[in-house]
Amino acid sequence: MNAPAVEVAGLRKEFRPAGLWGGGNRVLALDDVGFRLEQGEFAALVGESGSGKTTLGRVLLGLLPSDAGFVRVVGQDVGRMGRRERKMFRRRAQMVFQSPYASLNPALRVRSTLAEAVRVHQEDLDRPGVAAEVERLAELVRLPRGRLDEFPTSLSGGERRRVGFGRAMATRPEFVVTDEPVAGLDPPIQGQLLDLLQRIHQRREITFLLISHDLRVVRTLATRVVVLFRGRVLENAPARAFFTGEARHPYSQDLLLSAFDAATCMRNHRGVVRQSLAVGGCPYRPRCPIADVDEDAPCATIPPLLKAAGAEHWVACHKRERL
Ligand SMILES: Nc1ncnc2c1ncn2[C@@H]1O[C@H](COP(=O)(O)OP(=O)(O)O)[C@@H](O)[C@H]1O
Ligand code: SF4
Ligand SMILES: [Mg+2]
Repeated sequence: MNAPAVEVAGLRKEFRPAGLWGGGNRVLALDDVGFRLEQGEFAALVGESGSGKTTLGRVLLGLLPSDAGFVRVVGQDVGRMGRRERKMFRRRAQMVFQSPYASLNPALRVRSTLAEAVRVHQEDLDRPGVAAEVERLAELVRLPRGRLDEFPTSLSGGERRRVGFGRAMATRPEFVVTDEPVAGLDPPIQGQLLDLLQRIHQRREITFLLISHDLRVVRTLATRVVVLFRGRVLENAPARAFFTGEARHPYSQDLLLSAFDAATCMRNHRGVVRQSLAVGGCPYRPRCPIADVDEDAPCATIPPLLKAAGAEHWVACHKRERL
């Protein structure tokens, strides 16, 4: 069996307020996060706003240091990279940022943006080689040729996302994190971009981690679903099981209901979760419909760990682990 594409254990990331005395609360954005992704998987990292998804994506790619834990991505120990290793790693693992508009240089035409990405990672290519590679990328992300000579401001939202994907693909990466790739786009454009991702993934040469707050976005693509809540993984399940009635954590079930049963959307909508370090038992207890009410019960006193709940399926709930 091949080595996993991603291995994470005991990952912790805390944000502290700036300044000597601090102004606000510390935020525990990632708390004892652990999971692994096999090569060629298409994993979805889901959870509501503020659950730590973007932070996790950035830590996986070495864009943000962690406070504790182990992260190995495409065989590279991400916490211990020297300059040379970091340069190599940047080619092999890419992030497509949530806001491609903010991450594209407005002064560069699309052709130059893609050419720059190709040159950074394939230093020996001559001009015709770079031009050919730019055309390949445009074709890969289905960007009409005429758009290559435009500036980002002239592109539609969907086209800007395609450029973001094209730029990430320039290095022929083995692992790609894509953060809310279709958020804010109209449903037909969302569908086209998701089709594009599916096509890119078809040959299973790239392991994907798709970050989304919306389960509807990931249902057709994902092979695995990792559910994050207040910086903790509450469930990690094969997508097929997750979407066919075998999601076990009450929070996963709440997310599924909110996404697929419009009538319950309002009932389940509770807005952004505020995080703090003062959590005793289960982080989901304040919302959990099946929580023990007794203040001495495990729900109130012991943070549940991930335990096996099926084949390649783990859940962090005192009442829902396999008996
Ligand atoms: N640079 C930062 N400084 C301070 N707090 C941050 C920073 N980035 C994220 N956070 C906090 O960490 C938590 C997780 O944020 P984030 O990873 O962006 O969540 P998500 O992507 O799931 O919405 C949030 O409470 C957020 O406010
Ligand atoms: S551990 Fe208790 S509070 Fe937490 S999700 Fe399970 S039943 Fe609910
Ligand atoms: Mg985010």
